[in-house]
Amino acid sequence: MASSAARLPLPALFALLGALLPGTGGAQTSVDPPEDIIPRGGSMQVTCRASCDGNAVLGLETPLTKKEVANGINWKTYELSDIQEDSTPLCFSNCNGIQSTASVTLIVYSLPKRVELAPLPPWQPVGEDLTLRCEVEGGAPRTNLSVLLLRGEEELSRQLAEGETAEFTLLASRGDHGANFSCRTELDLRPKNRGLFQNSSVPRQLRTFVLPKTHPHLVSPRIMEVGTQQHVNCTLDGLFPASEAQVHLVLEDHRLETTVEYNKDSLLATAYIKANTEEEGTQQLTCTVTLGNQSQWTLENVTIYSFPAPILTLSPPNVSEGTVVSVECKACAGAVVTLQGAPAGPPGPSAQFLLNATSNDDGRIFLCSAALEVAGTVLRKNTTQELRVLYNSNQVVTIILVAAAVTLISVCTAAYLYNRQRKIREYKLQKAREANAMKLNTPP
Ligand SMILES: *[C@@H]1O[C@H](CO)[C@@H](O)[C@H](O)[C@H]1NC(C)=O
Ligand SMILES: *[C@@H]1O[C@H](CO)[C@@H](O)[C@H](O)[C@H]1NC(C)=O
Ligand SMILES: *[C@@H]1O[C@H](CO)[C@@H](O)[C@H](O)[C@H]1NC(C)=O
Ligand SMILES: *[C@@H]1O[C@H](CO)[C@@H](O)[C@H](O)[C@H]1NC(C)=O
Repeated sequence: MASSAARLPLPALFALLGALLPGTGGAQTSVDPPEDIIPRGGSMQVTCRASCDGNAVLGLETPLTKKEVANGINWKTYELSDIQEDSTPLCFSNCNGIQSTASVTLIVYSLPKRVELAPLPPWQPVGEDLTLRCEVEGGAPRTNLSVLLLRGEEELSRQLAEGETAEFTLLASRGDHGANFSCRTELDLRPKNRGLFQNSSVPRQLRTFVLPKTHPHLVSPRIMEVGTQQHVNCTLDGLFPASEAQVHLVLEDHRLETTVEYNKDSLLATAYIKANTEEEGTQQLTCTVTLGNQSQWTLENVTIYSFPAPILTLSPPNVSEGTVVSVECKACAGAVVTLQGAPAGPPGPSAQFLLNATSNDDGRIFLCSAALEVAGTVLRKNTTQELRVLYNSNQVVTIILVAAAVTLISVCTAAYLYNRQRKIREYKLQKAREANAMKLNTPP
């Protein structure tokens, strides 16, 4: 034990003290050591001494387990064991009927049974106060026990361990993100030559974040036609740490497949909206950025519409001159059509008129324009049809007939001439044969 070195010269010292201190009639009881600090459950030796001319009666009064280990004239040494708590054993002596006492102050020290840093919030906003609690169970004497808060190996603050918890408040910064905090106890018995005893808690990692108070910037089409696909994006700046932010793009209750690009302190989320027939109407598109335990979101309306081009019918589409043609245009409900050439009428989804086709109408293009208002925007779709008026048809027939007649006449003439030529030749041949026959029959 550390105090044993200091104990050896003490009997001499006590003899001196006994002589110097004013006594009770010359009788003095002294104890060595007068005080000590020992680990809980430990043992120590105490020497009681009497300054007496004759033989004194000596004893030690204590509830502790004691054993006399040595003695001499007017001194006795006891061993005290299993010392669990602070205690003040009392040496007494009786010298010639005069009783005196001296007490020894025993202080028990022990290391904390448990040192723990209470769980940290999962996320801590930067710029807000954070209270860290160190829980210290056991440990004595408390007057020599300090609690320290550490960031990594850096000591941030210390205080005496008073109750079971020591609270430390710090202003969370960006630099605290990812830092490991821990509690350490220090039982400083150096003034009592027993050294410094440290115990540390398991570290806990802190996550700090910054989510600005601004809404994300959401860029999306206000209107979309069924069957089309469009790109939407959402950005938010001033995030820390940006890579930890979550972003969700949701159309009504359908989550869009999103691609997220992280930059130093911002993010860009991109998604495609496919406008389906089932989603016709006004849909809410939301972009939500979540960081730590906070969220910021922006909502935009997207109106999904269907607007087929108007149907323009010419009936019949091919006519001969002087025939009445019906020109009719129909658009979807809610649209207003404008049919070129139609007389002015009340606006509506359909219009029509009749036309007495003339040769001038051949190749005439009819235009029907439908207008539909979708979420404050007027959309237009046009359809055209061309009219065919068959006013050349008689000439064609005439030409064909004339051509046919000319061909027929030519063929007939050719056939007649050929036939006539053949008949003349046959006649001449006949005549020649007859003449020859007469020459043969007539004797020269
Ligand atoms: C405290 O530290 C000592 C060594 O200094 C060790 O023996 C003891 O187990 C530690 N106690 C706790 C609760 O960690
Ligand atoms: C904190 O502790 C974790 C786990 O032991 C470690 O991965 C991390 O690097 C530590 N952080 C710092 C800032 O040392
Ligand atoms: C169409 O116009 C022609 C010539 O102008 C006229 O002879 C005919 O009767 C008209 N037809 C109708 C149905 O009005
Ligand atoms: C449709 O017709 C209207 C009226 O003539 C015209 O102003 C508009 O530009 C046309 N739109 C298209 C897409 O052709």
